[in-house]
Amino acid sequence: MIWNLGSINVDNFYHLTHLPAPGETIAATRFHQGLGGKGANMSVAAARAAARVAHLGAVGPDGKWAVERLLEYGVDTRHIATVGTATGHANINVDAGGENNIVIFPGANHAISEAMIGAALAEASPGDFLLMQNETCGQAYAAATAKTLGLRFAYAAAPFSAAAVQEVLHYIDLLVLNAVEAAQLVEATGRDITELPIDDVVITLGADGCKWVSNKQGTVERYPAHPVDVVDTTGAGDTFTGYLVAAIDRGLPMDQAIDLGMRAAALMVAREGTADVIPDLKEIQDHDFG
Ligand code: RIB
Ligand code: NA
Repeated sequence: MIWNLGSINVDNFYHLTHLPAPGETIAATRFHQGLGGKGANMSVAAARAAARVAHLGAVGPDGKWAVERLLEYGVDTRHIATVGTATGHANINVDAGGENNIVIFPGANHAISEAMIGAALAEASPGDFLLMQNETCGQAYAAATAKTLGLRFAYAAAPFSAAAVQEVLHYIDLLVLNAVEAAQLVEATGRDITELPIDDVVITLGADGCKWVSNKQGTVERYPAHPVDVVDTTGAGDTFTGYLVAAIDRGLPMDQAIDLGMRAAALMVAREGTADVIPDLKEIQDHDFG
């Protein structure tokens, strides 16, 4: 079972010919809205990957639909609080080549209390996963509590902050980050990835796939990405992590878990949107990856 302390956002997508330069005003060619947030995306991905997942988070009075949608997608929503602050949102600019930039407003994601986290984790069993990203508050408390309870802790260092990773570094069992972030972490800690006190580190490399550094085994493995036409990369990384953790939680070996994550991410890169369009296992099975 996965306990995911994560953000819930309203994703506003603006499709543009190019990303705006400072001072520039441009009209979007298309606009759509959906459920997102790195946390919600990972919860939905994990549910799509057939894991049991409970989301720990908060929405505002305007966020009832987001909770209903998570429930509809198979996520346990009993530990999502409704607080007085507005639901978090993200403005996502996507250019004609599928590149993006994102502005987020944390809102309710920063109004999650330690009491809420503690109450949820009190229901967890040893061996369950705590999953987190860096879009909520309460991270250090959640990580410490999870360790006391004998949970495994998977952390996706996104959006990246070296300080945020370092705060929970000694609790992490599985760390997922990209190559730029890995370099920043090495710089901040003064230690190579292979010297970190973390059993498994997965470094995503975009179109080049990913690298699994197992400090437990002392091995490094490379995995290629599945080539796809890039439509919108938003949510692909979250989908990878959600699938990866779900597969590990279901007892799959790391090789297979990574492969499943890579396939799910490839499908996500080829479609517009975030939580609402995350593929399920059947779609992955049915897809011809060439
Ligand atoms: O990683 C993509 C996500 O980042 C979006 O869903 C958006 O809400 C931001 O949190
Ligand atoms: Na996408």
